[in-house]
Amino acid sequence: MGLLKTFFTNCAYPQGRMGRMMLRFMNFGHAPLTNWGLGFLKFNDQMMMLDIGCGGGATLKRLMKRSVNAKVYGIDISEESVAKARKTNADMLDKQIFIRQGSAESLPYENAVFDIVTAVETVYFWPNLPGCLKEVLRVLKPGGQFAVMVEVIEGDSIWTNVVQGMTAYTPEQLKDMLDKAGFIQTAIHRKKPSYATITGMKA
Ligand SMILES: C[S@@+](CC[C@H](N)C(=O)[O-])C[C@H]1O[C@@H](n2cnc3c(N)ncnc32)[C@H](O)[C@@H]1O
Repeated sequence: MGLLKTFFTNCAYPQGRMGRMMLRFMNFGHAPLTNWGLGFLKFNDQMMMLDIGCGGGATLKRLMKRSVNAKVYGIDISEESVAKARKTNADMLDKQIFIRQGSAESLPYENAVFDIVTAVETVYFWPNLPGCLKEVLRVLKPGGQFAVMVEVIEGDSIWTNVVQGMTAYTPEQLKDMLDKAGFIQTAIHRKKPSYATITGMKA
């Protein structure tokens, strides 16, 4: 595998030194998309929130800022991501921010515990995305909100060619999957040049 390909494969599963570099980059590189996308969610005090595929943990901090006395949970399949997210959130770790390793396919949380679930730049890598969406629905409370944030990419692009295991979805495909999984009030939000946030709610 070429060096470039090896480097970008760390988007899907950050590992080792290159993974740590990628996580540092993503923590600030994804700020504009994340802050814009979080604007479509309604926040109250004391929310229970989960960020799936939390990477280096910056989204956990961003969620925390929007709800007083919140509890924010992060999960990521990569050990390197979990380590970095714990470091990023060291001040609140295991007090208000809880981070563990695991997959979107089988979330290690009880039914109906979260008010908000987010997924930033990660659904491209989830195996069996329709099954993962059912898992999100399971852990959301009735009335709970879900936001998927992506940079829209073409099916055959530089990204899908260099990042192993990456699947590009259009916002319409993602909305359709949310509808089929059972989310209600699903909507697509777009911002130039290529940002999309797909939102949905549990009935
Ligand atoms: C491109 S990074 C985005 C990280 C972070 N959300 C951000 O915006 O900076 C994708 C993350 O999704 C994680 N990931 C990939 N597949 C996953 C899965 N099945 N379950 C949970 N996390 C996953 C990767 O380990 C990686 O940390």
